[in-house]
Amino acid sequence: MTKALSFLKEIDFSKQDLMDLIDLSIKFKELKKKRIAHKYLDGLNIALIFEKSSTRTRSAFTVAGQDLGMNVTYLGAGEIQLGKKESVIDTAKVLGSMFDGIEYRGFKQEDVEALAEHSGVPVWNGLTDTWHPTQMIADFMTLKEHFGSLEGLSIAYIGDGRNNMANSLLVTSAILGVNVTIIAPKTLQPEEEIIALAHAHNTGATLTITDDVNAVSGVDMLYTDVWVSMGEEVDFKERIDFLLPYQINSDLIAKTGNDKVIVMHCLPAFHDLNTETGQEIYDQYGLAELEITDEVFQKHSATIFQEAENRMHSIKAIMYQSLKNI
Ligand code: CP
Ligand code: NVA
Repeated sequence: MTKALSFLKEIDFSKQDLMDLIDLSIKFKELKKKRIAHKYLDGLNIALIFEKSSTRTRSAFTVAGQDLGMNVTYLGAGEIQLGKKESVIDTAKVLGSMFDGIEYRGFKQEDVEALAEHSGVPVWNGLTDTWHPTQMIADFMTLKEHFGSLEGLSIAYIGDGRNNMANSLLVTSAILGVNVTIIAPKTLQPEEEIIALAHAHNTGATLTITDDVNAVSGVDMLYTDVWVSMGEEVDFKERIDFLLPYQINSDLIAKTGNDKVIVMHCLPAFHDLNTETGQEIYDQYGLAELEITDEVFQKHSATIFQEAENRMHSIKAIMYQSLKNI
């Protein structure tokens, strides 16, 4: 029962379910902007488990939970027994006996699924190595706000094509019927299993996987993400060599042939030297910008930060949908 009320991965939902969440997110945004109180879940308790770092997802769950009237408890990496001294299943049973809902950001998708199965309360996936489903509601909400409708849109994701973001964009676009192209070198393209899931849940979108950067031609939106994801242990230099031709820069924007193209990024982004990691990469490899140039980032920052703000409104909708009948 509660597994159905959880938000673990996009393929558990129909096009209508996801569209309803996007529309509910837009409604919650209006309430917030008009400062109309909406403590619809007053007195409930939720836990936020983060085994990886977070700015947006953590803040979004915290503020959204509080706006809905809930008490929010943050359980950070290394602060609870999970993993070292206690299994996911035992942790699920304990937390489920005290909290009304649980957010989980971690590594394996099986862990968030097990948490949902054994806690008996709704669980929300705040990112795993495989999927980033809450990000999807914010992203497609942002597209709907910008274009008025998702009907007929074509989007392209360029960069590391087999990380959680690429996987989620591929399957969510398929479910929603939005044409999507994943552009990545052959070694970093989505796994067959993910492509098969996208086809199995497709409601009419054109799904393209290619290593050709010219495939950005005609798209309405270009998306990218970091070249090395949290938890990955890879040779950074190798990634740079593979992905530099897939950077979002002014040449790539020109290849779209669309002067109204928008650019999105889930953030955090390496577009300048104002981060420790960015500076380290520059010191080692002489590269000051990675997946997106600062010029493009700044030009499209209004959309990118609108997308970030929308994390909060959309996570509010997701939690409300799960808990409204409790
Ligand atoms: N986009 C996103 O999930 O950001 P955080 O890692 O800061 O939560
Ligand atoms: N692919 C990135 C997304 C961060 C929001 C990561 O997993 O680190």
